[in-house]
Amino acid sequence: MPTHSPGPPAAVLCGLAGWVPARVVTNDELAERLDTDDTWIRTRTGIRRRHVIEPGEATSDLAVAAGRRALRHAGVASVDAVIVTTTTPDRPCPATAPAVAARLGLAGAAAFDVGAVCTGFVYGLATAAGLITSGVADRVLLIGADTYSTIVDPLDRANAIIFGDGAGAVVLRAGQADDPGAVGHFDLGSDGAHEDLITVTAGGSRQRSTGGEVQHRDRHFAMRGNEVYRHAVTRMAQSARAVLDTAGWKTDDVDHFVPHQANLRILHSVADDLGLPRERCVTNVDAVGNTGAASIPLALADAVARQAIRPGDRLLLTAFGGGLTWGSCLLTWPDIQPVPADPYDRGDETAS
Ligand code: UT7
Repeated sequence: MPTHSPGPPAAVLCGLAGWVPARVVTNDELAERLDTDDTWIRTRTGIRRRHVIEPGEATSDLAVAAGRRALRHAGVASVDAVIVTTTTPDRPCPATAPAVAARLGLAGAAAFDVGAVCTGFVYGLATAAGLITSGVADRVLLIGADTYSTIVDPLDRANAIIFGDGAGAVVLRAGQADDPGAVGHFDLGSDGAHEDLITVTAGGSRQRSTGGEVQHRDRHFAMRGNEVYRHAVTRMAQSARAVLDTAGWKTDDVDHFVPHQANLRILHSVADDLGLPRERCVTNVDAVGNTGAASIPLALADAVARQAIRPGDRLLLTAFGGGLTWGSCLLTWPDIQPVPADPYDRGDETAS
């Protein structure tokens, strides 16, 4: 006789990994070509360095490396679906996920991309959880991967200092809502009235259908940073509160707040707004910058590898990005320590 009746179905996190490219770009290196300096960058953003891909590398290369590590960490060789969330796909068409799946030996699995800019990982988690709880998939590999160095104008000092390249991946399995590692509750939202605050103008159907000449600046990522900053603080705090209310958690129930690593000042403002001590805010933005859809799983992988997050700890994940989009998710950390290597420890591995 079972001693414990199974709870409702849920997606349970069972593997995690991060990966960053080898090349490190320091603030001082950026100051050699831009009108900026290390002190400005550190005090305004908290960033000290970031990793960037070499010419010839692409988002899928990072996604494959993170995905392979996450599968190994979970101890699984197959999944039913591969989701890549990215703003920098290898090409406009097809999606990046099928090629990533094939390179991981997962051809045959469902594979598709999710686009929600820097909120992509939380949207991807909700999508993966939906596939699992609806019975469509038993196991899902979710990868957040971005190479903003391929879309940011290297001479745009406001954006070139913020972004870095990287990937983070999780494996989710079918389980019950009271299993440690079960993801949910969720809060997801958007406000497209502000789509122009974060944008790449060229390359889509709108610009192409006008038949006009593409301006150099339209190929690059553009962000009205100051306005985005204010939206980010407000929306992240609102979303975090909403998911805590839905779950009946109090702020004090949160052991670790794992936000999208946009800018250290933003993260601290959100923590202050929520009444969370800043020490509970998980951050690695100093080492990797803003890595878009990769930032939450990279921050998680970093913290778990350092054993700063331990089994049983309660986590609040909150993201914000272009769209505008935002989202939050709660989970209790499962007993899957340790992550085999931190995201910066390459060992003998290569990305391919
Ligand atoms: O991941 C998706 C969501 N993204 C975010 O949440 C990012 C949100 N925004 C930010 O993180 C910040 O707005 C930035 C880091 C992008 C900029 O920091 P800020 O404190 O908002 O600066 P600002 O845009 O208000 O600019 C202040 C000054 C300006 O000079 P003036 O007009 O006051 O003379 C800028 O031209 O700082 C100047 N500036 C710089 N100076 C030195 C802008 N970038 C730089 C730079 N170095 N790299």
